[in-house]
Amino acid sequence: MQIEKSQDIELGGMKVSSVAHIAVAVPDLEKAMSFYHDRFGAKISAPTENTAQGVRIAFAEFSNTKIELLQPLKKVSPVGRFIERNPSGGIHHICFSTEDAESAHSTAEANGLRPLQMPEQGVHGHPLFFLHPKETFGALIEIEESG
Ligand code: CO
Repeated sequence: MQIEKSQDIELGGMKVSSVAHIAVAVPDLEKAMSFYHDRFGAKISAPTENTAQGVRIAFAEFSNTKIELLQPLKKVSPVGRFIERNPSGGIHHICFSTEDAESAHSTAEANGLRPLQMPEQGVHGHPLFFLHPKETFGALIEIEESG
C-alpha cells in the first residue's frame, strides 16, 4: 500500500496536522521531570493538576513535540488503574492536533471509530476527546484542538 506524504494527514477523514504530544504515565512526577530534564535536556513545564481526571501533569518539551507526564492523584482513575497494571509507568496515549475538534469527532464516529466522550475542555482550555483503542490498533488516541 502506498501512503502519500502530505502536510495534513487524513485519519479516518479527520484532519490532523501533527503529533501534539505523547503521554507517559509515571508513578512519581518529580522523578520523571528530573529524568527528562537531566537525561535529555528537555525544558519542563510547571506541574498542573486536573482533579476531574485525577492526574498531575507536566510537559517535557522537545523541538517537534512534547512528552506529557501523567501521575495519578488517586488509584480509582484511568491513569491510576494504568499505573496499577504498569507500576513502573508506560506509554499511555498519543495526542494529535486538529483544527476543529467537533468536526473531527463527528467524522470519527461516521467512520466507525469510537470517541469516548464529546469534545470537552482539557487542562489547556482546548476541546479534546479520546478514541477507544479497540479501533485504533490498541493505542489510546487523543484528538485535541490546536490554538
Ligand atoms: Co494528552
